[in-house]
Amino acid sequence: MSTTHEAGWAHAPGGLRGPAWLSPPADPNALVPSLWSSTAHKRDGDLVVGGVAVADLVAEHNTPAYVLDEEDFRARARAFRDGFAGWKVYYAAKSFLCTTVARWVVEEGLRLDVCSNGELTVALRAGVDPALLEYHGNNKSLPELRRAVSAGVGAIVVDSLVEVERLAAATADLGATQAVMVRVTAGVEAHTHEYIATAHEDQKFGFSITNGDALEAVRRVLAAPGLDLRGLHSHIGSQIFDAAGFEVAARRVLRLHARVSDELGTTMPEMNLGGGFGIAYTTQDRPMSPAQLAAEMTRIVGEECRGLGLEPPQLSIEPGRAIVGPSMCTVYTVGTVKPVTLDGGAVRTYVSVDGGMSDNVRTALYDADYSCTVAGRASEAPPVLARVVGKHCEAGDVVVRDEFLPADVAPGDLLAVPGTGAYCRSMASNYNHALRPPVIAVRDGQARILLRRETEDDLLATDVGA
Ligand code: LLP
Repeated sequence: MSTTHEAGWAHAPGGLRGPAWLSPPADPNALVPSLWSSTAHKRDGDLVVGGVAVADLVAEHNTPAYVLDEEDFRARARAFRDGFAGWKVYYAAKSFLCTTVARWVVEEGLRLDVCSNGELTVALRAGVDPALLEYHGNNKSLPELRRAVSAGVGAIVVDSLVEVERLAAATADLGATQAVMVRVTAGVEAHTHEYIATAHEDQKFGFSITNGDALEAVRRVLAAPGLDLRGLHSHIGSQIFDAAGFEVAARRVLRLHARVSDELGTTMPEMNLGGGFGIAYTTQDRPMSPAQLAAEMTRIVGEECRGLGLEPPQLSIEPGRAIVGPSMCTVYTVGTVKPVTLDGGAVRTYVSVDGGMSDNVRTALYDADYSCTVAGRASEAPPVLARVVGKHCEAGDVVVRDEFLPADVAPGDLLAVPGTGAYCRSMASNYNHALRPPVIAVRDGQARILLRRETEDDLLATDVGA
């Protein structure tokens, strides 16, 4: 295997280096294990996931396709269940949901957080016990709330006073009692590598703790006969790597929890600290294991409860990305390779694939970083810095901003992008009338389609043509 790199790429004046953290790999054929699902490996250049060679999968199902490593998904779900033993663990369905995955989640002992009527429909269609569901959303309509109450969802997380009124009306009407969590804004917003502990209350979610709205919401819930106040809910953001943000939020939420006890005489039995645990998209990302996270979060809550003289409430979390994110990769076929000479003479290699921002909008939308590998063959060619782009009609249609690929990458090659389980299929669109790719589960050498590829008939199904 060649370990050389293209002469001069890193040294030429104006040469393209890519981001500082990206260096040419010793072997561009090798996988970086931390970015891939646990069963993924290369066999003579072929990417193999779940015991299935991706090239064989493509021969049967074509590209683009999402490939879901079932064993990896289940293992991550179990790692949260076991790491957070004694906590309630809700899988955040918004990250990725289909009926089969909803069943896996329950089989592995987790619950399900849904945040829309559509996600609720999938969960119910999958046969998930409604008592295991928690229902989120900042604008649930009266019919949606009535449906959730009638279905018997385990908890509804209320997000506005209008919703408290609607839910009170729905329960009165239906003669039901509904368990309720109150979503609060802890004044903390966490980003990938940092958190900001002030002034992030200017957003649509939750009731502010600092301005008194949260306490008022709790009062209103307590005053509604059909609403059973279970506790407070706080979610501080997504793709978070350190526990500092959770620490500040948990302390603030627990102080409110204590005030509700002291001032309103109600001890709430539960508390939900939300999701947001980060995963590795690049070699720069170092996620904590669920067990480490659990230990940190349990310590934080324990300390604060002791300080406040509180019995710790039943705790919950809602991981989405950290379960499904690394379990999936997306496989594309390269369509064109175009070297583009830039000012200064450096050349950027644009590699166009048969998907793009319709199946992964995260690069365009959030400037997200991804990596990729040639999936169907080994190469002896030196690495070149490439940009993987889609086939949509805009320049921002980038899939992988910077990656070293073998210099002989060519039309017809398969390219696989890891870490696409979360917020890729679930945010996929039909932009440019693209057909959304299938989700194919692989396990023990077997493949099965969980979501089939859309067809042109699907595209036209809503076009009534009147
Ligand atoms: N709980 C609540 C209340 C949430 O709003 C979210 C995500 C989660 C749990 C799960 O967060 P996770 O563990 O998956 O990070 N589309 C964006 C992420 C949006 C997250 C929205 N809420 C992305 O692609 O990065």
